[in-house]
Amino acid sequence: MDKFIITGGRPLEGEAVISGSKNAAVAIIPAALLVEGWCRIENIPKIGDVEALIDILRKLGAEVYFEDDHTLYINSENLNSYKASYDMVKSLRASYYLLGALLARFGRAEVAFPGGCDFGHRPIDQHIKGFEALGAKVKIEHGIINMHADELVGTQIFLDIVSVGATINLMLAAVKAEGTTILENPAKEPHVVDVANFLNAMGADIKGAGTDEIKIRGVKSLKGEAVHSIIPDQIEAGTFMIAAAATKGDVVIRNVIPKHMEPLTAKLLEMNVDVTENGDWIRVKGNRHIVKANIKTLPYPGFPTDLHPPTTVLLCQADGTSTITEGVYDSRFQYVEELKRMGAEIKLEGRIAVIEGSRQLTGAPVKATDLRAGAALVIAGLTAKGITEIYDVKHIDRGYENFEEKLVNLGARIERVGSTRITSNGTVLAAKRMPPSSVV
Ligand code: EPZ
Repeated sequence: MDKFIITGGRPLEGEAVISGSKNAAVAIIPAALLVEGWCRIENIPKIGDVEALIDILRKLGAEVYFEDDHTLYINSENLNSYKASYDMVKSLRASYYLLGALLARFGRAEVAFPGGCDFGHRPIDQHIKGFEALGAKVKIEHGIINMHADELVGTQIFLDIVSVGATINLMLAAVKAEGTTILENPAKEPHVVDVANFLNAMGADIKGAGTDEIKIRGVKSLKGEAVHSIIPDQIEAGTFMIAAAATKGDVVIRNVIPKHMEPLTAKLLEMNVDVTENGDWIRVKGNRHIVKANIKTLPYPGFPTDLHPPTTVLLCQADGTSTITEGVYDSRFQYVEELKRMGAEIKLEGRIAVIEGSRQLTGAPVKATDLRAGAALVIAGLTAKGITEIYDVKHIDRGYENFEEKLVNLGARIERVGSTRITSNGTVLAAKRMPPSSVV
């Protein structure tokens, strides 16, 4: 079990280059199953969830390999299975995209219920409702979602709740359906648009992704034989922007799309953090004086729920009491108990975290309970007095590429202790074995 050891108190300075978007990649890789030929996907992030999906695609009969560090070649011509067992899918939520992709490819799919971050109740009723509206028969037995359709027929689907997963899954299922599908009240996240752009590059006919209505005109097949480059990761960029502000640092974050960062940039400016942007970079300079704020997380273009935990760390430094209202998930407060170990004062009232400011956090042993909670604890450790040990960093590896290396390049004192990591293209990432008391 890897852990991070962090010595806090040093401002982050320098440049960080953002990787490809996790939430676009984990949708586009399964979407490649719809392509009856090869496709090349560039700017793929090297993260745990991508590794897990590559394994699944290979087990379904696809040919998948890295052509270089961040370019994935996928050929699904000889796909020979529409079954994905619990063992194959238990580690990641995005395995639910196999449902839409396999149903569209084979008219059948047998996929176990998805895994992923534990935020309590995470139903997929909107996905199922949409598949049934397109003509699929859905049966849930022994933890397996079993679907088949003699024919998928385009129709109008109104999503009762704005869902990234349901929007993308129904786009996948409708791409080759007979006639036109209209998705109403869809999610508008940048990665939803990126998946639509990938599918269109492969021969689909999707219009309106990123707006309140998506129109998908069914096509006979997706020929593929095309290249798509994945957008930069909005949440990774936001994590580094918040880390720069919280450590009173000065960081230039490169390879970002500033438009995607607007919900966060607006809040940071309100909190008296200096944010300047130009072209594909954003510069964040932290200030001594952080102004308190009230934030509500919402679907894009609202404040991203995935930046809720890291933002709480910054609000612990603000001049007074702030609140974060979780507007997307029932509960996403597992990180709070861990921050309290470091001296944070946070009260939970239903879906609201009330955060007392002017807190100097202190180093402590804590546990990453999920991906973004883990990132928040790393930022907390960088701002804290003394040494912080973060356990279960496997959650962080699922969604951040070379997180500690990028932070070390910004002057952070962070080390990984634990087992050596081997990536799918055989790269050995040796974790340093630390002689005691070397991190000072
Ligand atoms: C995606 O999850 C992301 N995961 C999440 O990022 C992100 O937090 C979330 O979108 C919101 O932006 C991936 O893209 C793999 P939703 P998803 O469907 O698709 C409810 C990260 O850290 N809902 O938009 O699962 C649901 O319970 C991860 O990168 C239903 O009720 O989220 C939630 O309250 C964590 N019924 C809300 O809608 C449904 O059928 C939004 O969920 C579907 C969703």
